Amino acid sequence: MNKKGFIFDLDGVIVDTAKYHFLAWKKLANDIGIDFTETQNEELKGVSRVKSLEKILSWGNKELTQDEFMKLMAKKNNDYLHHISQMDENEILPDVPQKINYLKEKKQPVALGSASKNARVILQKVNLIQYFNAIVDGNDVVKAKPDPEVFLNAAKAIEIPPERCVVFEDSVAGIQAAKKAAMMAIGIGDKEVLFEADFVFKSFEDITTEFIEQIIEN
Ligand code: BG6
Ligand code: MG
Repeated sequence: MNKKGFIFDLDGVIVDTAKYHFLAWKKLANDIGIDFTETQNEELKGVSRVKSLEKILSWGNKELTQDEFMKLMAKKNNDYLHHISQMDENEILPDVPQKINYLKEKKQPVALGSASKNARVILQKVNLIQYFNAIVDGNDVVKAKPDPEVFLNAAKAIEIPPERCVVFEDSVAGIQAAKKAAMMAIGIGDKEVLFEADFVFKSFEDITTEFIEQIIEN
């Protein structure tokens, strides 16, 4: 039987948490006198918490002590945790459970490969955690996307060679990480933005079961 490894990013692929990251970063930036727009938020997609704060500070030409930096990181996360505390199944993006179910029916291993340190909490809240054969998140890696570490660790955890893994990603950094890992990269989002991906779909609703079947077989 053919087996491929299917690795899902979390934020922007399984759930639309970008809006909560945006609210939390915006509050933090504005509190320290830095403007923060939705366009800038796009640049933070897939980017680790540390790197995100570094970027915001550089946009505002602000330098902080290590202590202040750590305090702001904690503040942002508390705010974010407050936003996600109310999450439930309704926040799963369209057709994601159906596609995961299909992969499970076909006995394909499914893993999570996310930069977020809150990944497990979110998967529990939306009641999807039990579908994953492995979860690799921001707590398990040293190097952030576009480094391939998170996806290589996920492949190892499900015991599928990287060349036989398929990554679903909504961020440029994530697509680059998948390609560096020698995996097939499927972009979820805008073709123009995710042009480095092997395939791009607007949403999981546009991915047919025939398409997935072909990936499994070839
Ligand atoms: C990524 C998000 O999945 O996780 C980023 O796209 C976020 O916006 C990063 O900064 C880290 O997440 P967290 O939950 O650990 O702050
Ligand atoms: Mg993402």
